[in-house]
Amino acid sequence: MKRRTLLGSLVATVVTACTRSGEPGAVDRTEGSAAATTGATAETTIDIAADDSLPAGTGAPEPIPPPPVDLDADAFGLGVASGDPDASSVVLWTRLVGQLPETVPVVWELSLDPLFAKLAATELTTANASTGHSLHALPTGLEPATNYFYRFLAGSLVSTVGTTRTLPAPEDNRVLVLAVSSCQAAEDGAYAAHADIAAAKLDLVVWLGDYIYGGAATLEEFRAAYANYRRNPLLQASHAAHPWVLIADDHEVLNDYDASVDPTVRAAAYRAWWENQPTRLPQPGTGEPFTFYRNVDLGGMGRLILTDSRQYADGVSLFGADQTAFLEDAFRHNKRWTVLASSVLASGLTAAGEMTLGYTLDGYPTEREVLAGWLGQAPSPLILSGDLHMGMMLDFSADPANREAAVVATELMAPAISSAFPADLAPFAPFLPLLNPHLRHIDVANGWLKLTLEATGATAEFRTVVDIANPASSLESIQFMIEAP
Ligand SMILES: [Fe+2]
Repeated sequence: MKRRTLLGSLVATVVTACTRSGEPGAVDRTEGSAAATTGATAETTIDIAADDSLPAGTGAPEPIPPPPVDLDADAFGLGVASGDPDASSVVLWTRLVGQLPETVPVVWELSLDPLFAKLAATELTTANASTGHSLHALPTGLEPATNYFYRFLAGSLVSTVGTTRTLPAPEDNRVLVLAVSSCQAAEDGAYAAHADIAAAKLDLVVWLGDYIYGGAATLEEFRAAYANYRRNPLLQASHAAHPWVLIADDHEVLNDYDASVDPTVRAAAYRAWWENQPTRLPQPGTGEPFTFYRNVDLGGMGRLILTDSRQYADGVSLFGADQTAFLEDAFRHNKRWTVLASSVLASGLTAAGEMTLGYTLDGYPTEREVLAGWLGQAPSPLILSGDLHMGMMLDFSADPANREAAVVATELMAPAISSAFPADLAPFAPFLPLLNPHLRHIDVANGWLKLTLEATGATAEFRTVVDIANPASSLESIQFMIEAP
């Protein structure tokens, strides 16, 4: 079966930890004066313009009683989520299910206290059938680096309470802790890794793709797939505990898809993705690719550069012209760390013979060289990747096959939440470290990566699930220190 660790580490400490259920991290009871609120009806793109009629400091908004509406008892059965935070706002998400009228009035509430005794912001909005009864609210004017509680009310129902957190202010150099993972095929294993993420004290969860698996083609099928996945209580706990920032990989659309994909299927896939994720991206249109590459500035400590490795991959360019221009610009910044998030492996791996590893940069050597040049100029570069269903640490260079090539960044592939290590790669796994001198750590176990960014260095902690069939499995952990170059 799986060999736990194929290659020992240079600087490693091994500890064992048990998962705890549910309890979100400690909460800062910072006094804040969050005031102006706005919303986003699910109907159109998010209206970011704040309602300035409520000046800060005039006291807490009054609770709004939710209008009566007849709903199934489990209308909030997909849970709640938050995401795409910045220093003063964060998206709050839910999606109603069951027998529903065309339009459902929903009140959302945001508070510094778990009992919602004093509201920081609230609004009456609607969830509409046209967008799968999803709801994206965007409270603004919030305090930076502050924990908030949120919930939704519809008719006589109240959702689960979620906790979220804004990002630090631009000049704030505080330590940041990220969870990184991808690939949660439900048929492959249980979600002990999500229970562990839910229990961790984090600033942000970074999702690198493969949120759903399995053969959908129409909007209704994609909606059903998301509803299926979001019924999982441990995935719900992971969302309810922290804000998420997400990109998509191939399985959100079709296995190993690229620019040649049927645009109708792609449009249905990204529309359902948008409906089902706590994102502030505008609702995708039809026909064109859905632009989700973007930057997220993590206070003064780092810039997270989120990329798209599928929609523009055409055999000539992995990223396409527009994204390439975006990337060149994104690497120019003055934050402490540069964190490039890629759904696929950037460094490349040599396996025996003609082994292909999907749409990695292995097929685009010129682009890898350009990327290496940009990374080499950027402040303290790190690469986060997913897709291959194993945890790895690699030395990234312009040419992984050339041992003399200068190492410009450390690449950290996050373990998959539950998706199994690919069967076609399994026979080669024990030999990968021998064939790939730039591969410094590999472990095919499931789990997640905890990345801590500090001014002097980063800590990469691979947290791996002991028994993937057991949702209450304990986890093991191995930790690497990365000095800031
Ligand atoms: Fe995957």
